[in-house]
Amino acid sequence: MERLPGFRDFYPEPLPTPDAWSCDARQYIFNKWRETARRYGFREYDGPPLEPLELFTLKSGEEIVGQLFNFIDKGERAVAMRPEMTPTLARMVAVAERTYKKPIKWYAVPQLFRYERPGKGRLREHFQFNCDVFGENDPSADAEVIALLIDVLRSFGLTTEDFVLRLSSRNAWEDFFNKRNSDPSKAYEFFQIIDKLERAKPEESAQKLSELGFSYDEVADFIQGGEPTSELAAILNNLTARGLGEFVKVDYHVIRGLAYYTGVVFEAFDRKGEFRAIAGGGRYNNLVKLISGGKVDLPALGFGMGDVVLLELLKSRKLLPKFDSQTDIFVLIEDEQLRCDSLKLIQQLREQNFSVEYSLTPVKSDKQFKRALELNATHSARVEKTEPGGLVVKLKNLKTRAESSVALGDVSALSEMLNATTRFPSDLTAHQ
Ligand code: HAM
Repeated sequence: MERLPGFRDFYPEPLPTPDAWSCDARQYIFNKWRETARRYGFREYDGPPLEPLELFTLKSGEEIVGQLFNFIDKGERAVAMRPEMTPTLARMVAVAERTYKKPIKWYAVPQLFRYERPGKGRLREHFQFNCDVFGENDPSADAEVIALLIDVLRSFGLTTEDFVLRLSSRNAWEDFFNKRNSDPSKAYEFFQIIDKLERAKPEESAQKLSELGFSYDEVADFIQGGEPTSELAAILNNLTARGLGEFVKVDYHVIRGLAYYTGVVFEAFDRKGEFRAIAGGGRYNNLVKLISGGKVDLPALGFGMGDVVLLELLKSRKLLPKFDSQTDIFVLIEDEQLRCDSLKLIQQLREQNFSVEYSLTPVKSDKQFKRALELNATHSARVEKTEPGGLVVKLKNLKTRAESSVALGDVSALSEMLNATTRFPSDLTAHQ
């Protein structure tokens, strides 16, 4: 039985085939996402993976609506798997914003579903790191979110040589549009043409633009000019003050496909232009009002970063660590009569937060030892009888070969010895 196209199985390492997806790599990415969000003071939220269809038809725009996994459920409701997190988040904030001090700074790591043609950088499900801020209109909030985005990518070892953040403004494009076309209902159509400009054939774009009363050249000149609006200038200054100025450039090619954006918009790309967008986001100051039926009005902005392009980029730059097993101690049971005492030791060690492995059934000592090495355990431990009839734990550091012993049951002496030499047990990051 095969899995559906565009969906993934995630295996623990070592991987069964070179193109299999690694659950260790996925966890590594999630940990970096969460860790950076924490450094910026963001709190985690989540919502339902299945939503009323209407939530997305309201304002996500044709592109996403055309890619929905939607169906009628057994209660005759029109529902859709979430293709993005932003409408869910806008609803959650609209309902509960009074409980929270502003600005609200929240993040999530949802799995999203889009019925796209699967290909390089695009699948039918992906995980997306979302960071959003509500209740602040000042460009300092935009700069804060953009700095977070830059720092997430830096946390993976990516530098200015690897990626760039292209900064743009829907306001600037709206002004451009309004000066030449008096029909606001055509604005989204115009934005869609700009969004596709770099991928579409120039003749096709020129034709579509002329139908709306624009010449290709005036659009190209506007992009070429790249004159930052006052908001963009404020963001650039803010990022420069942090020493992050080199990571951003104004680029009016970016306008974003989603319909709800209202102001500053941005996308992160690899510098060489080999991959699709790593992340994208911007301001959506009207969405909370729209979703709450006018009850709540809060300015908002944020971004989403997918795991698929990011992983492709990290692999190509050889920035993924080696994912070893996380075993701290392998308990050798060489004398089956000591199995019960060994189980007691194993339990004590696990209660002290160490990762412990052992053989579930009787196995020859050399095989147990081999398994300890395969698991890359930092220590082996074995329970031994002493001459006077007591029991000790013999601990061996498998890297330095240093041995020590401690009475069975003296948990504090044992964990002190181990803590000095093992990985910190709660450290979830991968070990190089
Ligand atoms: P988006 O540009 O549609 O924005 O998606 C953001 C990122 O998710 C993309 O840059 C890409 O890395 C990843 N992504 C999107 N679709 C796929 C796919 N089919 N397969 C793999 N990766 C994909 C949004 O979704 C906005 N809701 C982001 C946002 C949050 N704006 C404000 N707050």
